[in-house]
Amino acid sequence: MKPRIGILISGRGSNMAAIVAAAQDPSYPATIACVISNRPDAKGLETAAANGIPALCVDHKHFPSREEFEDELNRQLDDRDVDFVVLAGFMRVLTERFIGRWDGKLVNIHPSLLPSYRGLHTHERALSDGVKLHGCTVHFVVPELDAGPIIAQGAVRVRPSDTPETLAARVLAVENTLYPRVVAGLASGHIVLAGDQVIIDGPAAEGALISLA
Ligand code: GAR
Repeated sequence: MKPRIGILISGRGSNMAAIVAAAQDPSYPATIACVISNRPDAKGLETAAANGIPALCVDHKHFPSREEFEDELNRQLDDRDVDFVVLAGFMRVLTERFIGRWDGKLVNIHPSLLPSYRGLHTHERALSDGVKLHGCTVHFVVPELDAGPIIAQGAVRVRPSDTPETLAARVLAVENTLYPRVVAGLASGHIVLAGDQVIIDGPAAEGALISLA
């Protein structure tokens, strides 16, 4: 049986949709078990449901604490026998307890070339610093925000005419190609976290996890 992926979103869900689309190929090594949003109005929930993926909301506002919210997330993920949790534009900080429970099985995509520009408004900050390269990073999740071991990165050139929106769009296109490859590598056991080291072998090692647009 293929490993089962739970995808957590908060909004649009383009990365989720890219992974769902990739997983429609029978040779893809993972099954998308569910998509969970912490926001009831997340556009991505409709996209997931339209693709036949179980899509549900666990609204963080309905829980008195982060721990209780995460307990419900875990219940939903366990109910669907999820093996890996993929954060795809999931905008809630997770506790150390949740992150520990999914150690080596929890990944995130961030819209910058980490360790530059952790946190929010990455495209605006990159433009105001005048950097020439910007991009995205997929990493294992650790308790420190946007700081986990790096699995994959995609870089784009910054153009003099760029606005935060045009730059974000080019970075997002790279995100949407890179993330499905990372999920495939994880599911097939070619990408593994050993302590704080990322071990990559097989097809994933051959440049598929680095993109230079
Ligand atoms: C993506 O750009 C992703 O990198 C970013 O949110 C966007 C979600 O887009 N994630 C973060 O900022 C996490 N800190 P999507 O909903 O279309 O996948």
